[in-house]
Amino acid sequence: MKNTINTKEIIFALSNILDMADSHLAMHQQRVTYIAWKIALEAKLEKSQLESLFVAALLHDIGALSLEEKVKITKGEESNTQRHTLLGQRILAQIPWMQEASFYVKYHHKRWDSYQEPEKNNYCLPAQILYLADMVDRLIDKNKYILDQDDYLKTIIQNLSGEHFSPNVVQYFLNASKNESFWLDLLSVKLPDILKTNSPYQGVNLTLKELLPVTECIRKIIDFKSPFTSTHSAGVAEAAVVLSDLLNHSDETAIAMRNAGNIHDIGKLVIPEHILEKEGHLSDQEYRLIKQHSYQTYMALYEVTGLGDIVEWASFHHERLNGSGYPFGLHADKLSEGARLMAVADIFTAIIEDRPYRRGMEKTQVIALLEKQSSEGLLDKHIVHILIANYDYCSMKVKNKQKIASEHYKMNFETQ
Ligand SMILES: [Fe+2]
Ligand SMILES: [Fe+2]
Ligand SMILES: [Fe+2]
Repeated sequence: MKNTINTKEIIFALSNILDMADSHLAMHQQRVTYIAWKIALEAKLEKSQLESLFVAALLHDIGALSLEEKVKITKGEESNTQRHTLLGQRILAQIPWMQEASFYVKYHHKRWDSYQEPEKNNYCLPAQILYLADMVDRLIDKNKYILDQDDYLKTIIQNLSGEHFSPNVVQYFLNASKNESFWLDLLSVKLPDILKTNSPYQGVNLTLKELLPVTECIRKIIDFKSPFTSTHSAGVAEAAVVLSDLLNHSDETAIAMRNAGNIHDIGKLVIPEHILEKEGHLSDQEYRLIKQHSYQTYMALYEVTGLGDIVEWASFHHERLNGSGYPFGLHADKLSEGARLMAVADIFTAIIEDRPYRRGMEKTQVIALLEKQSSEGLLDKHIVHILIANYDYCSMKVKNKQKIASEHYKMNFETQ
């Protein structure tokens, strides 16, 4: 499988799903991107800075891991804005080509009057543009017609000149927003098309191996959203790679498997954490809500060209061979070996891992459950057989990987 994946497509997919969880967020990051981009054109930012700003804007609230925090920040009700800017920087800095963008994210709530020597700070202008763009979108009353409030918005921003924002950036904003089309674009349902088609950022093509730092980063955002499952995707990805090796797949396939395992639960980004973290029994309604996550994984990934088989491997992990799974109810003839493998990796990891409200299952229980599900035609017999035949090895690999992920989580994310 010689796939290449365009970074622009993956960033748009991620930005979109991060904004899907709540009506207060709907397209927030994309609107901020539009505003920042138009201001940056007035400011005549150089090409590489403009590209980094575009990427940073699309993901600027990535460090707000919980939905509650995200909504509060977007509504301007969160007093501690530092947490999400620092975490955002830390998450993005793990991707080699996002260093510059990561610093714009770090400073996207930094006031102009708090810079010591702004003219010597390379991040100051782009970060100020991002801050102003974010403020404008937070001030827009989404229930009112936009052209009934643009003058008011401009006045508020002007009043913050010299304090929150540099006078120059305020002026660039006033120039950028003088035409009605600016405001109409912003609230148009066509905004995603406008951004994608005219994007100053064209992205680069990554091999599946080069994609790994990106999916590792996405994995952390998914897992760290809820401390209860803070190592789940790390475990699933490891189990998938181990099984792939045991089935004598190529190295290339194993890399694709790791990418797929890392992002198989990306759809959980739209599920509120109070449901993900609920101890004990979920109500029918909560269960129906949580079940949409694998559908959302599919919707996020299928448009990203170049992911190839990864889309199905990741999205079909709750499908079952006899058609009893969800969300598509696919039968064996539509489920590739990779999708079957991911289903086994997912269930194996889920039942052996400890959750705060229950211990992970013991070996004999796990084997009994997997055997039952394969004999009932839910899981693939051969893959389950391979897993059971190598049980101790598989379980050791998954637990080790989860231990490392857990230490990383505790050190970098838990106490912020
Ligand atoms: Fe923010
Ligand atoms: Fe924001
Ligand atoms: Fe899942």
